[in-house]
Amino acid sequence: MSSSCHGGGVGKDQGIIWSKKDPHSRADAVLSTARSARMAEALKIPDPKVSVRCTVCHSPMQTVPTERLSLLKNFEPEKGVSCESCHGAAEPWLRFHTRPDVQHAQRIAAGLRELTDLYARANACVACHLNLDPEIANVGRHPEMFFELDGQMSAQPPHYKDEGAWVGPRAWQTGQAVALRELSWKLAQQRDATLVARWKALVWVLQKSGTLDVDADAASFAAAQSTANRFAKASAQSIWTREKTLQLLRAYSAASAEFRDAKVSVEELRRRGEVLVMAMDRLWSALKREGGLKSENFDNGLRVAVDLARAQAGFKKELFSAAIEQLEVALERLPQK
Ligand code: HEC
Ligand code: HEC
Ligand code: HEC
Repeated sequence: MSSSCHGGGVGKDQGIIWSKKDPHSRADAVLSTARSARMAEALKIPDPKVSVRCTVCHSPMQTVPTERLSLLKNFEPEKGVSCESCHGAAEPWLRFHTRPDVQHAQRIAAGLRELTDLYARANACVACHLNLDPEIANVGRHPEMFFELDGQMSAQPPHYKDEGAWVGPRAWQTGQAVALRELSWKLAQQRDATLVARWKALVWVLQKSGTLDVDADAASFAAAQSTANRFAKASAQSIWTREKTLQLLRAYSAASAEFRDAKVSVEELRRRGEVLVMAMDRLWSALKREGGLKSENFDNGLRVAVDLARAQAGFKKELFSAAIEQLEVALERLPQK
Protein backbone atom coordinates (compact mmCIF):
# COMPACT_ATOMS: atom_id res chain seq x y z
CA MET A 1 0.00 0.00 0.00
CA SER A 2 1.37 3.39 -0.91
CA SER A 3 1.80 5.73 2.01
CA SER A 4 0.51 8.66 -0.03
CA CYS A 5 -2.89 7.07 -0.71
CA HIS A 6 -4.48 5.67 2.45
CA GLY A 7 -1.48 6.70 4.52
CA GLY A 8 -2.41 10.04 6.02
CA GLY A 9 -4.52 13.18 6.05
CA VAL A 10 -8.18 13.65 6.90
CA GLY A 11 -10.22 10.90 5.21
CA LYS A 12 -7.04 9.32 3.85
CA ASP A 13 -5.74 7.65 6.97
CA GLN A 14 -7.28 4.18 6.57
CA GLY A 15 -3.83 2.60 6.33
CA ILE A 16 -2.57 4.25 9.51
CA ILE A 17 -5.70 3.36 11.45
CA TRP A 18 -5.45 -0.23 10.28
CA SER A 19 -1.76 -0.69 11.04
CA LYS A 20 -1.70 1.20 14.35
CA LYS A 21 -5.09 0.39 15.88
CA ASP A 22 -7.00 -2.33 14.10
CA PRO A 23 -6.61 -5.83 15.62
CA HIS A 24 -6.82 -7.20 12.07
CA SER A 25 -3.30 -5.96 11.34
CA ARG A 26 -2.06 -8.15 14.18
CA ALA A 27 -4.23 -11.19 13.45
CA ASP A 28 -1.19 -13.06 12.12
CA ALA A 29 0.91 -12.24 15.20
CA VAL A 30 -1.41 -14.20 17.49
CA LEU A 31 -0.35 -17.31 15.59
CA SER A 32 3.14 -16.90 17.11
CA THR A 33 1.93 -16.96 20.71
CA ALA A 34 2.38 -19.82 23.16
CA ARG A 35 -1.38 -20.31 23.13
CA SER A 36 -1.33 -20.94 19.38
CA ALA A 37 1.66 -23.24 19.74
CA ARG A 38 -0.26 -25.36 22.24
CA MET A 39 -3.31 -25.45 19.98
CA ALA A 40 -1.11 -26.51 17.07
CA GLU A 41 0.49 -29.23 19.15
CA ALA A 42 -2.91 -30.69 20.07
CA LEU A 43 -3.97 -30.57 16.42
CA LYS A 44 -0.66 -31.96 15.16
CA ILE A 45 -0.06 -28.89 13.02
CA PRO A 46 3.71 -28.32 12.64
CA ASP A 47 3.54 -24.51 12.43
CA PRO A 48 0.35 -22.48 12.91
CA LYS A 49 1.94 -19.43 11.24
CA VAL A 50 1.93 -21.17 7.88
CA SER A 51 -0.86 -23.69 8.26
CA VAL A 52 -3.90 -22.81 6.12
CA ARG A 53 -6.08 -24.15 8.91
CA CYS A 54 -5.19 -20.98 10.82
CA THR A 55 -4.06 -18.54 8.12
CA VAL A 56 -7.35 -18.85 6.26
CA CYS A 57 -8.72 -16.39 8.82
CA HIS A 58 -5.64 -14.96 10.53
CA SER A 59 -3.48 -14.18 7.52
CA PRO A 60 -5.40 -14.94 4.35
CA MET A 61 -3.04 -13.04 2.02
CA GLN A 62 -0.55 -15.82 2.49
CA THR A 63 -2.39 -17.81 -0.11
CA VAL A 64 -2.15 -15.06 -2.75
CA PRO A 65 0.67 -15.30 -5.31
CA THR A 66 3.32 -12.74 -4.37
CA GLU A 67 3.79 -11.37 -7.91
CA ARG A 68 0.30 -9.90 -7.64
CA LEU A 69 1.20 -8.17 -4.43
CA SER A 70 4.04 -6.16 -5.95
CA LEU A 71 1.28 -3.90 -7.23
CA LEU A 72 0.89 -2.70 -3.69
CA LYS A 73 3.92 -0.74 -2.57
CA ASN A 74 5.06 -1.33 0.99
CA PHE A 75 2.45 -4.01 1.37
CA GLU A 76 3.30 -6.77 3.79
CA PRO A 77 1.39 -9.86 2.72
CA GLU A 78 2.19 -11.65 5.94
CA LYS A 79 0.42 -8.99 7.91
CA GLY A 80 -2.84 -10.34 9.20
CA VAL A 81 -6.27 -9.54 7.83
CA SER A 82 -5.41 -6.95 5.19
CA CYS A 83 -7.42 -4.38 3.26
CA GLU A 84 -8.00 -6.93 0.53
CA SER A 85 -9.38 -9.55 2.91
CA CYS A 86 -12.40 -7.28 3.30
CA HIS A 87 -12.36 -5.13 0.18
CA GLY A 88 -11.50 -7.86 -2.31
CA ALA A 89 -8.38 -8.54 -4.37
CA ALA A 90 -7.17 -5.13 -5.53
CA GLU A 91 -5.52 -5.92 -8.82
CA PRO A 92 -8.48 -5.20 -11.13
CA TRP A 93 -9.54 -1.92 -9.51
CA LEU A 94 -6.38 -0.58 -7.89
CA ARG A 95 -5.38 1.61 -10.82
CA PHE A 96 -8.64 3.44 -11.32
CA HIS A 97 -10.52 3.23 -8.01
CA THR A 98 -9.46 6.77 -7.05
CA ARG A 99 -10.52 8.48 -10.27
CA PRO A 100 -13.22 11.00 -9.36
CA ASP A 101 -15.29 10.19 -12.45
CA VAL A 102 -15.53 6.53 -11.48
CA GLN A 103 -18.79 5.66 -9.70
CA HIS A 104 -19.30 3.23 -6.82
CA ALA A 105 -21.10 0.79 -9.14
CA GLN A 106 -18.17 0.78 -11.57
CA ARG A 107 -15.70 0.02 -8.79
CA ILE A 108 -17.93 -2.81 -7.63
CA ALA A 109 -18.17 -4.14 -11.19
CA ALA A 110 -14.37 -4.13 -11.33
CA GLY A 111 -14.17 -6.34 -8.25
CA LEU A 112 -14.09 -3.96 -5.29
CA ARG A 113 -16.27 -5.83 -2.87
CA GLU A 114 -19.68 -4.40 -2.04
CA LEU A 115 -19.57 -3.48 1.66
CA THR A 116 -21.95 -0.53 1.80
CA ASP A 117 -24.97 -2.80 1.84
CA LEU A 118 -25.17 -4.30 5.34
CA TYR A 119 -26.19 -7.73 4.06
CA ALA A 120 -23.08 -7.90 1.88
CA ARG A 121 -20.98 -6.56 4.73
CA ALA A 122 -22.30 -9.14 7.17
CA ASN A 123 -21.42 -11.86 4.66
CA ALA A 124 -17.86 -10.55 4.47
CA CYS A 125 -17.31 -10.49 8.23
CA VAL A 126 -19.12 -13.69 9.13
CA ALA A 127 -16.79 -15.72 6.93
CA CYS A 128 -14.13 -15.42 9.65
CA HIS A 129 -16.18 -14.56 12.72
CA LEU A 130 -18.50 -17.45 13.45
CA ASN A 131 -17.87 -20.96 12.26
CA LEU A 132 -14.75 -22.60 13.56
CA ASP A 133 -13.80 -26.08 12.42
CA PRO A 134 -15.12 -28.35 15.26
CA GLU A 135 -11.76 -30.04 15.57
CA ILE A 136 -10.13 -26.68 16.38
CA ALA A 137 -12.99 -25.72 18.69
CA ASN A 138 -12.66 -29.01 20.58
CA VAL A 139 -9.07 -28.28 21.52
CA GLY A 140 -10.67 -25.70 23.80
CA ARG A 141 -8.10 -22.91 23.57
CA HIS A 142 -9.60 -20.94 20.74
CA PRO A 143 -12.06 -18.23 21.85
CA GLU A 144 -15.65 -19.27 21.15
CA MET A 145 -16.80 -17.12 18.27
CA PHE A 146 -19.88 -14.97 18.14
CA PHE A 147 -20.92 -12.89 15.22
CA GLU A 148 -22.79 -9.68 16.00
CA LEU A 149 -22.29 -7.15 13.23
CA ASP A 150 -23.20 -3.89 14.93
CA GLY A 151 -21.07 -4.46 18.03
CA GLN A 152 -18.12 -5.72 16.01
CA MET A 153 -18.39 -2.80 13.60
CA SER A 154 -18.22 -0.39 16.50
CA ALA A 155 -15.36 -2.32 18.12
CA GLN A 156 -13.30 -2.03 14.95
CA PRO A 157 -11.37 1.27 15.01
CA PRO A 158 -13.35 3.35 12.51
CA HIS A 159 -11.80 4.05 9.11
CA TYR A 160 -15.14 4.90 7.47
CA LYS A 161 -18.47 6.39 8.43
CA ASP A 162 -21.88 4.96 7.63
CA GLU A 163 -24.50 7.32 6.34
CA GLY A 164 -28.09 7.46 7.50
CA ALA A 165 -30.00 7.16 10.74
CA TRP A 166 -30.46 4.09 12.96
CA VAL A 167 -27.82 2.04 11.13
CA GLY A 168 -26.99 0.27 14.41
CA PRO A 169 -30.21 -1.70 14.99
CA ARG A 170 -30.40 -2.48 11.27
CA ALA A 171 -26.85 -3.86 11.33
CA TRP A 172 -27.57 -5.79 14.52
CA GLN A 173 -30.65 -7.50 13.04
CA THR A 174 -28.96 -8.20 9.70
CA GLY A 175 -25.93 -9.68 11.43
CA GLN A 176 -27.93 -11.92 13.76
CA ALA A 177 -29.97 -13.24 10.81
CA VAL A 178 -26.77 -13.95 8.88
CA ALA A 179 -25.38 -15.74 11.95
CA LEU A 180 -28.56 -17.84 12.08
CA ARG A 181 -28.19 -18.70 8.40
CA GLU A 182 -24.59 -19.79 8.93
CA LEU A 183 -25.41 -21.92 11.97
CA SER A 184 -28.32 -23.47 10.03
CA TRP A 185 -25.97 -24.34 7.19
CA LYS A 186 -23.44 -25.86 9.59
CA LEU A 187 -26.12 -27.86 11.42
CA ALA A 188 -27.68 -29.10 8.19
CA GLN A 189 -24.34 -30.77 7.52
CA GLN A 190 -23.59 -32.01 11.00
CA ARG A 191 -25.53 -31.93 14.25
CA ASP A 192 -23.77 -30.49 17.24
CA ALA A 193 -25.49 -30.00 20.62
CA THR A 194 -23.66 -26.75 21.44
CA LEU A 195 -24.56 -25.21 18.12
CA VAL A 196 -28.17 -26.37 18.36
CA ALA A 197 -28.55 -24.46 21.65
CA ARG A 198 -27.03 -21.36 20.06
CA TRP A 199 -29.23 -21.79 16.98
CA LYS A 200 -32.38 -21.98 19.10
CA ALA A 201 -31.36 -18.89 21.00
CA LEU A 202 -30.94 -16.91 17.79
CA VAL A 203 -34.35 -18.06 16.55
CA TRP A 204 -35.82 -16.98 19.88
CA VAL A 205 -34.27 -13.51 19.82
CA LEU A 206 -35.08 -12.82 16.15
CA GLN A 207 -38.68 -13.97 16.45
CA LYS A 208 -39.24 -11.11 18.85
CA SER A 209 -37.92 -8.59 16.35
CA GLY A 210 -39.73 -9.70 13.23
CA THR A 211 -41.70 -12.44 11.52
CA LEU A 212 -39.25 -15.29 11.17
CA ASP A 213 -40.99 -18.42 10.00
CA VAL A 214 -38.79 -21.03 11.66
CA ASP A 215 -40.02 -23.83 13.92
CA ALA A 216 -37.34 -24.07 16.60
CA ASP A 217 -38.57 -27.48 17.81
CA ALA A 218 -38.75 -29.10 14.39
CA ALA A 219 -35.08 -28.17 13.89
CA SER A 220 -35.27 -28.32 10.10
CA PHE A 221 -31.99 -26.59 9.49
CA ALA A 222 -31.94 -26.60 5.69
CA ALA A 223 -35.29 -24.78 5.57
CA ALA A 224 -34.13 -22.36 8.28
CA GLN A 225 -31.06 -21.53 6.20
CA SER A 226 -33.07 -20.01 3.35
CA THR A 227 -35.61 -18.41 5.69
CA ALA A 228 -32.82 -16.76 7.67
CA ASN A 229 -31.16 -15.59 4.48
CA ARG A 230 -34.36 -13.88 3.31
CA PHE A 231 -34.79 -12.35 6.75
CA ALA A 232 -31.21 -11.04 6.61
CA LYS A 233 -31.69 -9.43 3.20
CA ALA A 234 -34.92 -7.80 4.31
CA SER A 235 -33.27 -6.64 7.56
CA ALA A 236 -30.52 -4.87 5.63
CA GLN A 237 -33.22 -2.72 4.00
CA SER A 238 -35.40 -2.32 7.08
CA ILE A 239 -36.30 1.09 8.41
CA TRP A 240 -35.77 1.83 12.07
CA THR A 241 -37.00 4.72 14.15
CA ARG A 242 -36.65 5.78 17.76
CA GLU A 243 -40.10 4.33 18.51
CA LYS A 244 -39.42 1.00 16.85
CA THR A 245 -36.07 0.63 18.62
CA LEU A 246 -37.51 1.53 22.02
CA GLN A 247 -40.49 -0.76 21.51
CA LEU A 248 -38.22 -3.72 20.76
CA LEU A 249 -36.00 -2.93 23.74
CA ARG A 250 -39.13 -2.92 25.92
CA ALA A 251 -40.20 -6.27 24.45
CA TYR A 252 -36.81 -7.78 25.32
CA SER A 253 -36.84 -6.36 28.82
CA ALA A 254 -40.29 -7.94 29.30
CA ALA A 255 -38.79 -11.40 28.72
CA SER A 256 -37.77 -11.97 32.36
CA ALA A 257 -40.52 -14.54 32.98
CA GLU A 258 -39.23 -16.67 30.10
CA PHE A 259 -36.00 -17.17 32.02
CA ARG A 260 -37.83 -18.91 34.82
CA ASP A 261 -39.44 -21.31 32.35
CA ALA A 262 -38.73 -24.86 33.55
CA LYS A 263 -39.31 -26.46 30.14
CA VAL A 264 -36.16 -25.02 28.66
CA SER A 265 -32.75 -26.37 29.68
CA VAL A 266 -30.36 -24.12 31.58
CA GLU A 267 -27.90 -24.36 28.70
CA GLU A 268 -30.52 -23.08 26.29
CA LEU A 269 -31.49 -20.31 28.69
CA ARG A 270 -27.85 -19.29 28.99
CA ARG A 271 -27.57 -19.08 25.22
CA ARG A 272 -30.73 -17.00 25.09
CA GLY A 273 -29.25 -14.74 27.73
CA GLU A 274 -26.11 -14.32 25.64
CA VAL A 275 -27.95 -13.12 22.53
CA LEU A 276 -30.45 -11.14 24.56
CA VAL A 277 -27.82 -8.97 26.26
CA MET A 278 -26.10 -8.37 22.91
CA ALA A 279 -29.45 -7.23 21.45
CA MET A 280 -30.23 -4.95 24.37
CA ASP A 281 -26.75 -3.48 24.32
CA ARG A 282 -27.01 -2.55 20.63
CA LEU A 283 -30.56 -1.16 20.84
CA TRP A 284 -29.72 0.84 23.95
CA SER A 285 -26.50 2.21 22.38
CA ALA A 286 -28.50 3.46 19.41
CA LEU A 287 -31.16 5.01 21.64
CA LYS A 288 -28.50 6.85 23.63
CA ARG A 289 -26.60 7.98 20.54
CA GLU A 290 -29.48 8.94 18.29
CA GLY A 291 -32.57 8.96 20.48
CA GLY A 292 -31.31 11.28 23.21
CA LEU A 293 -32.05 8.75 25.98
CA LYS A 294 -30.15 8.53 29.25
CA SER A 295 -30.51 6.27 32.26
CA GLU A 296 -27.81 5.34 34.72
CA ASN A 297 -30.07 2.64 36.09
CA PHE A 298 -30.31 1.05 32.68
CA ASP A 299 -26.54 1.33 32.10
CA ASN A 300 -25.79 -0.31 35.44
CA GLY A 301 -28.51 -2.93 35.10
CA LEU A 302 -27.28 -3.90 31.65
CA ARG A 303 -23.75 -4.38 32.99
CA VAL A 304 -25.11 -6.74 35.65
CA ALA A 305 -27.09 -8.70 33.04
CA VAL A 306 -24.07 -8.97 30.73
CA ASP A 307 -21.89 -10.31 33.56
CA LEU A 308 -24.56 -12.84 34.54
CA ALA A 309 -24.99 -13.99 30.93
CA ARG A 310 -21.25 -14.61 30.61
CA ALA A 311 -20.54 -15.88 34.12
CA GLN A 312 -17.87 -18.59 34.04
CA ALA A 313 -19.26 -20.14 37.20
CA GLY A 314 -22.53 -21.13 35.49
CA PHE A 315 -25.78 -19.48 34.50
CA LYS A 316 -28.10 -18.51 37.35
CA LYS A 317 -31.47 -18.18 35.69
CA GLU A 318 -33.25 -16.60 38.69
CA LEU A 319 -30.61 -13.90 39.03
CA PHE A 320 -30.62 -13.26 35.30
CA SER A 321 -34.39 -13.06 35.21
CA ALA A 322 -34.35 -10.54 38.08
CA ALA A 323 -31.71 -8.48 36.28
CA ILE A 324 -33.87 -8.28 33.15
CA GLU A 325 -36.81 -7.23 35.28
CA GLN A 326 -34.70 -4.36 36.65
CA LEU A 327 -34.10 -3.23 33.08
CA GLU A 328 -37.83 -3.23 32.43
CA VAL A 329 -38.28 -1.00 35.49
CA ALA A 330 -35.51 1.34 34.32
CA LEU A 331 -37.26 1.74 30.97
CA GLU A 332 -40.60 2.47 32.63
CA ARG A 333 -38.93 5.28 34.54
CA LEU A 334 -37.40 6.96 31.52
CA PRO A 335 -38.33 10.63 31.39
CA GLN A 336 -41.22 11.00 28.93
CA LYS A 337 -40.40 13.03 25.88
C1 HEC B 1 -12.85 -19.30 10.98
C2 HEC B 1 -11.78 -18.36 11.19
C3 HEC B 1 -10.66 -18.75 12.14
C4 HEC B 1 -9.85 -19.87 12.09
C5 HEC B 1 -9.90 -21.02 11.09
C6 HEC B 1 -8.92 -19.74 13.19
N1 HEC B 1 -9.18 -18.57 13.88
FE1 HEC B 1 -8.21 -17.93 15.55
N2 HEC B 1 -9.54 -16.37 15.71
C7 HEC B 1 -10.46 -16.01 14.77
C8 HEC B 1 -11.16 -14.82 15.22
C9 HEC B 1 -12.26 -14.09 14.46
C10 HEC B 1 -10.61 -14.48 16.46
C11 HEC B 1 -11.04 -13.33 17.36
C12 HEC B 1 -12.21 -13.81 18.17
C13 HEC B 1 -12.71 -12.82 19.16
O1 HEC B 1 -11.91 -12.14 19.81
O2 HEC B 1 -13.93 -12.73 19.30
C14 HEC B 1 -9.58 -15.47 16.75
C15 HEC B 1 -8.81 -15.51 17.91
C16 HEC B 1 -7.73 -16.36 18.11
C17 HEC B 1 -6.86 -16.32 19.26
C18 HEC B 1 -7.00 -15.38 20.44
C19 HEC B 1 -6.32 -14.09 20.06
C20 HEC B 1 -6.38 -13.03 21.11
O3 HEC B 1 -6.11 -11.86 20.70
O4 HEC B 1 -6.68 -13.30 22.26
C21 HEC B 1 -5.88 -17.26 19.05
C22 HEC B 1 -4.71 -17.58 19.96
C23 HEC B 1 -6.17 -17.90 17.79
N3 HEC B 1 -7.30 -17.33 17.25
C24 HEC B 1 -5.39 -18.92 17.23
C25 HEC B 1 -5.78 -19.67 16.14
C26 HEC B 1 -5.04 -20.83 15.66
C27 HEC B 1 -3.73 -21.34 16.23
C28 HEC B 1 -5.76 -21.33 14.60
C29 HEC B 1 -5.47 -22.57 13.78
C30 HEC B 1 -5.32 -23.81 14.52
C31 HEC B 1 -6.94 -20.47 14.44
N4 HEC B 1 -6.89 -19.48 15.37
C32 HEC B 1 -7.91 -20.66 13.46
C33 HEC B 1 -10.74 -16.69 13.60
C34 HEC B 1 -10.21 -17.93 13.26
C1 HEC C 1 -12.28 -5.95 8.60
C2 HEC C 1 -12.65 -5.48 7.30
C3 HEC C 1 -11.93 -4.30 6.71
C4 HEC C 1 -10.57 -4.13 6.60
C5 HEC C 1 -9.47 -5.06 7.08
C6 HEC C 1 -10.38 -2.90 5.91
N1 HEC C 1 -11.59 -2.32 5.62
FE1 HEC C 1 -11.88 -0.54 4.65
N2 HEC C 1 -13.89 -0.68 4.99
C7 HEC C 1 -14.52 -1.75 5.55
C8 HEC C 1 -15.94 -1.48 5.58
C9 HEC C 1 -17.00 -2.41 6.13
C10 HEC C 1 -16.13 -0.19 5.01
C11 HEC C 1 -17.45 0.56 4.77
C12 HEC C 1 -17.74 0.32 3.32
C13 HEC C 1 -18.80 1.17 2.69
O1 HEC C 1 -19.46 1.96 3.36
O2 HEC C 1 -18.95 1.03 1.45
C14 HEC C 1 -14.82 0.27 4.64
C15 HEC C 1 -14.55 1.50 4.02
C16 HEC C 1 -13.33 1.88 3.51
C17 HEC C 1 -13.10 3.07 2.73
C18 HEC C 1 -14.14 4.11 2.37
C19 HEC C 1 -14.03 5.17 3.43
C20 HEC C 1 -15.16 6.16 3.42
O3 HEC C 1 -15.01 7.15 4.14
O4 HEC C 1 -16.17 5.91 2.76
C21 HEC C 1 -11.78 3.09 2.37
C22 HEC C 1 -11.05 4.13 1.54
C23 HEC C 1 -11.18 1.90 2.96
N3 HEC C 1 -12.15 1.19 3.64
C24 HEC C 1 -9.84 1.56 2.84
C25 HEC C 1 -9.24 0.51 3.52
C26 HEC C 1 -7.81 0.26 3.52
C27 HEC C 1 -6.79 1.08 2.75
C28 HEC C 1 -7.60 -0.83 4.30
C29 HEC C 1 -6.29 -1.48 4.71
C30 HEC C 1 -5.30 -0.61 5.28
C31 HEC C 1 -8.92 -1.26 4.78
N4 HEC C 1 -9.88 -0.43 4.28
C32 HEC C 1 -9.13 -2.38 5.59
C33 HEC C 1 -13.94 -2.92 6.03
C34 HEC C 1 -12.57 -3.15 6.10
C1 HEC D 1 -10.24 -12.85 6.75
C2 HEC D 1 -10.90 -13.03 8.02
C3 HEC D 1 -11.61 -11.85 8.69
C4 HEC D 1 -12.56 -11.03 8.13
C5 HEC D 1 -13.11 -11.03 6.72
C6 HEC D 1 -12.97 -10.14 9.20
N1 HEC D 1 -12.28 -10.41 10.35
FE1 HEC D 1 -12.44 -9.44 12.13
N2 HEC D 1 -10.96 -10.62 12.92
C7 HEC D 1 -10.34 -11.67 12.27
C8 HEC D 1 -9.36 -12.27 13.16
C9 HEC D 1 -8.49 -13.48 12.83
C10 HEC D 1 -9.39 -11.55 14.36
C11 HEC D 1 -8.56 -11.79 15.63
C12 HEC D 1 -7.41 -10.83 15.67
C13 HEC D 1 -6.63 -10.89 16.96
O1 HEC D 1 -7.08 -11.46 17.94
O2 HEC D 1 -5.54 -10.31 16.96
C14 HEC D 1 -10.42 -10.52 14.17
C15 HEC D 1 -10.76 -9.57 15.14
C16 HEC D 1 -11.78 -8.66 15.02
C17 HEC D 1 -12.18 -7.76 16.07
C18 HEC D 1 -11.55 -7.66 17.44
C19 HEC D 1 -12.02 -8.81 18.29
C20 HEC D 1 -13.45 -8.69 18.67
O3 HEC D 1 -14.25 -9.61 18.31
O4 HEC D 1 -13.82 -7.71 19.32
C21 HEC D 1 -13.25 -7.04 15.58
C22 HEC D 1 -14.03 -5.98 16.32
C23 HEC D 1 -13.50 -7.49 14.22
N3 HEC D 1 -12.59 -8.48 13.92
C24 HEC D 1 -14.50 -7.00 13.40
C25 HEC D 1 -14.68 -7.38 12.06
C26 HEC D 1 -15.68 -6.81 11.17
C27 HEC D 1 -16.69 -5.74 11.56
C28 HEC D 1 -15.53 -7.42 9.95
C29 HEC D 1 -16.28 -7.17 8.67
C30 HEC D 1 -16.36 -5.78 8.23
C31 HEC D 1 -14.42 -8.36 10.08
N4 HEC D 1 -13.96 -8.32 11.37
C32 HEC D 1 -13.95 -9.16 9.06
C33 HEC D 1 -10.60 -12.09 10.99
C34 HEC D 1 -11.44 -11.47 10.08
